[in-house]
Amino acid sequence: MAVSVTLKLATSLDGRIATASGESRWITGPEAREEVHRQRAAHDAVLVGIATVLADDPELTARIDPPLKRQPWRVVLDRRSRLPAHSRLAQSTDFGAVVSLSTGGWPQTCALDATRVERLLAPPLPGESEPHAALRIMEQALGIRTVYLEGGGQVAASFLRAGLVDRIEWFRAPMLLGQEGRPAIGALALGALTQALRFARVGVHPVGPDLWERYVRSEG
Ligand SMILES: NC(=O)c1ccc[n+]([C@@H]2O[C@H](COP(=O)([O-])OP(=O)(O)OC[C@H]3O[C@@H](n4cnc5c(N)ncnc54)[C@H](OP(=O)(O)O)[C@@H]3O)[C@@H](O)[C@H]2O)c1
Repeated sequence: MAVSVTLKLATSLDGRIATASGESRWITGPEAREEVHRQRAAHDAVLVGIATVLADDPELTARIDPPLKRQPWRVVLDRRSRLPAHSRLAQSTDFGAVVSLSTGGWPQTCALDATRVERLLAPPLPGESEPHAALRIMEQALGIRTVYLEGGGQVAASFLRAGLVDRIEWFRAPMLLGQEGRPAIGALALGALTQALRFARVGVHPVGPDLWERYVRSEG
């Protein structure tokens, strides 16, 4: 796969991305969020799952100084076209393109028809995983070569399971949310420790009160 994927995680010390009720703003501090804007700006596309959009209503733009001439594509993995027409994403298409990407099909009509959100269909080829199909179509249709994957946990797990995450940028806040918090990574369906997905740490930096850890996929 020619598309490179960076997974961004903003978690508590115990690896939770939200409380049980789905509250996640703001786990990390302003310094970490500033770095996230810089990292968005360095990628062709920002990618999230639809549950994250429904929970947080994010805009997912890269707000840096000086402002970008062209924003990264903002892509939502959204099998059933549930992206609300009144969401910040759908309402900010003047600022940069937004794509709702489905690996299945769409309802014949939906609220997005009245917006400028683009819709892309990415049915997997025989034997191909959904994340592979999504990246293949994003590259073919939009020329996207670098993806900044911002979760949530289910989407992160599906890209990890498919072996598609090249780097992790992990921002860890000094707080604990406990078992009832939402995990940063959903199920990986591993049977043994030998099957664990391994990464090598390539950097650790304090950012305000938080810790920013950088990892690359380890082949060994
Ligand atoms: N702290 C942080 O940085 C951060 C970042 C992101 C999210 N969050 C939090 O995480 C929570 C949402 O995470 P989540 O794990 O519940 O959901 P998610 O990963 O954001 O979205 C999951 C949904 O995406 C759709 N989807 C489409 N293609 C998929 C694929 N290949 N793999 C997996 N899902 C796919 C599915 O819905 P359809 O079948 O309807 O398409 C699925 O239910 C929210 O509470 C949010 O606040 C926190």
